[in-house]
Amino acid sequence: MLTIRQLSRSFREGEVLHPVLDGLNADVGSGESIAITGRSGSGKSTLLNLISGIDRADAGTVAIDGREVTAMAEPERTLFRRAHIGFVYQFFNLIPTLDVAENVRLVLELNGVAARAARQRVAEVLAAVGLGARAHSAVEQLSGGEQQRVAIARALVHEPRLLLADEPTGNLDEESARAVLPLLLSLVRARGTTLVMVTHDGALARAANRTLELRAGRLHPSGGGGT
Ligand SMILES: Nc1ncnc2c1ncn2[C@@H]1O[C@H](COP(=O)(O)OP(=O)(O)OP(=O)(O)O)[C@@H](O)[C@H]1O
Ligand SMILES: [Mg+2]
Repeated sequence: MLTIRQLSRSFREGEVLHPVLDGLNADVGSGESIAITGRSGSGKSTLLNLISGIDRADAGTVAIDGREVTAMAEPERTLFRRAHIGFVYQFFNLIPTLDVAENVRLVLELNGVAARAARQRVAEVLAAVGLGARAHSAVEQLSGGEQQRVAIARALVHEPRLLLADEPTGNLDEESARAVLPLLLSLVRARGTTLVMVTHDGALARAANRTLELRAGRLHPSGGGGT
């Protein structure tokens, strides 16, 4: 489903070139969930940004369902991302001027989904994350755990084939993290969505099919995994 070959990305700092990803390879099967661990600065967020096409690689390829994201130019890449990828950010990235339902509905509008169908789909997904009653709340009035559930609803509302999550519980207290985690996994499993998540959370990593460690610019098997 996701095939990554010889992916490289460096960042320049003055005269010095810092290689972050260095010939990275990975294969993720359809419906599989992968947890990526690695020390701070090892390139985890950089990798997710390359998979989603937010950032561009120096070399190498990323293909999703056989479509080579790294070969696409704008705006094709944006349209592809919008249609097929969901992204849960560490710091929610909700739009403060939109209410809960509007935040979730936006991607459907951008994808050209008709208003009535979009409203119904938003209601379903908000109910699924337990926020059916908060559709018209301002996002800033929600707790951190509630905001992260809105972010999960937003990432899944268009039923993406691939969900990318960057420390989805990293900014939550332990109790909220314990509530968000099974929710994320159950939604993903119910739809057969492929999940690639960055996490320092041992429980989240263990719940994935495989755990890979990002080290020295490449992914290494790190045992663990369970279901
Ligand atoms: N846009 C950028 N410009 C310059 N350097 C960058 C840029 N983005 C990332 N880097 C550098 O690349 C390295 C990897 O960053 P990245 O954010 O991918 O790490 P990470 O593994 O996600 O870390 P963390 O666990 O702290 O989130 C870091 O050294 C960072 O400074
Ligand atoms: Mg990061």
